[in-house]
Amino acid sequence: MDADALRGLAPSDSKDQLRLISCGSVDDGKSTLIGRLLHDSRMIYEDQLQTLARESVKHGTTGDDLDFALLVDGLEAEREQGITIDVAYRFFTTPRRSFVVADTPGHEQYTRNMATGASNAQLAVMLIDARKGVLVQTKRHSLICSLLGIRHVVVAINKVDLVDYRKEVFDRIVGDYVAFASSLGFTSIVAIPIAARYGDNVTSQSSNTDWYHGPCLLDYLESVDLESETAGLPFRFAVQWVNRPNLDFRGYAGTVASGSIAVGEEIIVAASGRHSRIKQIVTYDGEAGRAEAGDAVTITLVDEIDIGRGDILAKPTERPEVADQFSAHVIWMDQEAMVPGRSYALRIGTQSIASGSITAIKYKIDVNTGARLAARTLSLNEIGFCNVALANAAAFDTYEANRRTGCFIVIDRYTNRTVGAGMIVFPLRRAANIAWQPLSVGKTERAALKHQRPCIVWFTGLSGAGKSTIANLVDQRLFAMSHHTMLLDGDNLRHGLNRDLGFTEADRVENIRRAGEVAKIMLDSGLIVICSFISPYKAERDMLRDLVGKGEFIEVFVDTPIDECVRRDPKGLYTKARSGTIKNFTGIDAPYEAPSAPDVHLKTLGQQPEQSADMVLNCLVTRGIIALR
Ligand code: ADX
Repeated sequence: MDADALRGLAPSDSKDQLRLISCGSVDDGKSTLIGRLLHDSRMIYEDQLQTLARESVKHGTTGDDLDFALLVDGLEAEREQGITIDVAYRFFTTPRRSFVVADTPGHEQYTRNMATGASNAQLAVMLIDARKGVLVQTKRHSLICSLLGIRHVVVAINKVDLVDYRKEVFDRIVGDYVAFASSLGFTSIVAIPIAARYGDNVTSQSSNTDWYHGPCLLDYLESVDLESETAGLPFRFAVQWVNRPNLDFRGYAGTVASGSIAVGEEIIVAASGRHSRIKQIVTYDGEAGRAEAGDAVTITLVDEIDIGRGDILAKPTERPEVADQFSAHVIWMDQEAMVPGRSYALRIGTQSIASGSITAIKYKIDVNTGARLAARTLSLNEIGFCNVALANAAAFDTYEANRRTGCFIVIDRYTNRTVGAGMIVFPLRRAANIAWQPLSVGKTERAALKHQRPCIVWFTGLSGAGKSTIANLVDQRLFAMSHHTMLLDGDNLRHGLNRDLGFTEADRVENIRRAGEVAKIMLDSGLIVICSFISPYKAERDMLRDLVGKGEFIEVFVDTPIDECVRRDPKGLYTKARSGTIKNFTGIDAPYEAPSAPDVHLKTLGQQPEQSADMVLNCLVTRGIIALR
C-alpha cells in the first residue's frame, strides 16, 4: 500500500494527528528517515487496516480536507497561479496517531518553502549528521521554525553508526545545539541518537546505544503531548460567509479557529464591539450544543447585529487585538522586492484588507546567523521585522498567542500574487492613542471663502516631458482667473522636505507619499493644488487617488516619447544617464508605468504647451472645478 492510499484512510479526528516538519538535507539522511518511518509504521499499520477502514467510513476521509493553516491555503492558491512552493506532504498512521510530515528542500534559497511547511507544523524534526554536527543550515532551519511558531524540536542525530555509536559525539552535538537554540524560545528540545539506515532508535530501541535511555523517535512522536498547547486558546470564529436563505434566517458560516463555544454563551464581534448570544449552532449533521476548534458550523444569534464576511467572533472577556498598525515578521516570497510605503492588499484570517503597507523595516534577519541587519527593502526569501499599517482597523491575535489568527499574507494589488507572508508580533497602539482633532473650519468653508472647488491636478510623465512647463502655465492661468492655487514641483520639494530621498524605487515611493500628504493638506485648505512629479509607479498614483475624495484627484499624463525627451534634455540629465554617470534614471534604467486611464492625456508632440494647458483647464471646467469667467 503506498502513501497516497494511507492518506485516504487516515482517521479524520485531528486531535489524534501530529503535524511535523522534517528539516535537514538529503545528505543528512532525511529521505532515508522519512522512508523508514513510512515503511516501519506501515508494518504496524497493516494489522490495523480493517479497523481504520471502518473508522474512516465513519469520519469521512481527511485526504482532501486536511485542515491546513490559512497561510498554506493562501499559498496553495498561488501554486495554481504558477508559483512553485515546493512542499511535499507525506502521511502515515500508526495505531496511536496519524502524522502529516511536511518535507521541503533545505537550501537557503528555499526559505519561503520551508516557512510554508513550518507554518502549520506543531513539531520539527531537526536532522543532524553525527559526523558534521550543528551546521549553518541547522541554525537556519531552527530559526525559521522558531519564527513560524514551532515550540517543540526533536534533534535527530543521524548516522551514529558512522561515529561508532559514541556517546561523547552525541553529547557534544546536543550541547552545541542547546547552546545555540537557547534564544529561540523552544519549549522542548529532545535529542535522539539514530541510524536511519539501519533503523536504530527510529521505531524501536537500539541495542547499539545502550547508554541512551530516552524513547525511540516514533515512540516519542506518538506520545508527545501537544494538545495542552491549543486546549487553552480563546474562542475565535472567523465568518466566512453570511448565510441568509430567507428573511427569517441569518446564519454565520465558518470554522472555529480555536477554543470552543456553546449555545447560550455571549459573544462579541471583535472589530465593532457589538454583543449578542449564541442561539443555534448548526452542523452538517444537524443542530449541536457546542462547537470547538476545527468544526465547520453555522452560528445564529439571538439579536440581529451587523456582521459581515471576515468578522471575528470571540467571547467578550477574550477579545482579540483590534488595531490598524502592528509589528510583524514578514517573509518575502516574490521575485520583485518589497517596497516599503507601497500599498498592498492583505488577508488576515478571512479578513480582506484592501490597502495596507509596510511602513518601516526595523531590520532584516540573516537566516544563517540570526543577526539583525539594516535593510531598506526585502528580497525574495528574506525575512524582516517590520511595521505594517492598514487602511482600517482589523481584529487579530499575536502569532505567539494564536497561530491561526495571528498570521497574514501580502498580496500584490495588480497581479493578485501572494508576495509575502507574516506573523504578527504585537499591535501598535499609535493610532488608538492619537485622536483625529476635529476642525471647526472645514474644507468646504475654506473653499467657499475662495469661491472654488478644491482639487489636486497631478502631472505625471518622464523627465523632460514638459510637466513643469505645462503645470506652471495652468497655475498662471488659474491665478489670473483669481483662483487660489499652489504648485508643488518634484525638483523643488527635493530641495527641502524630500532632501533625504534619492531615486531608488523605495525613495520614489516615499517621495510621492510625502508629496501626496502635503497636497492633501493643501486640498483641505481649499486650494487647487497643482503637482508635477515623474511619479513613475501606478501603485503610488492609485494610492493618491484613494487618499482624497471622489473626483478630487485629476491625473494628467504628459505623454512625450522618450526619444523626444532625450532630444530636448533640458537639464542634460539624459546624457549623464546614458553615460552611466547617474543611475536609476527614469526611462533609461528605471521604469515608467504609463497611466492606463488618465483624466487628461496630453500628447505633447507637435503641440504647444499653451494648448496642453488649455486641455487641462477644459477638463477642470467639465468636472465643475472651475467656471469659465
Ligand atoms: S519621482 O520619480 O520621485 O516622481 P521627481 O519628480 O520627484 O521624481 O524628481 C524628478 C526630477 O529629479 C527630474 O525632473 C530630474 O530633474 C531629477 N533627477 C535626478 N536624478 C534622477 C533620476 N535618476 N531619475 C529621474 N529624475 C532624476
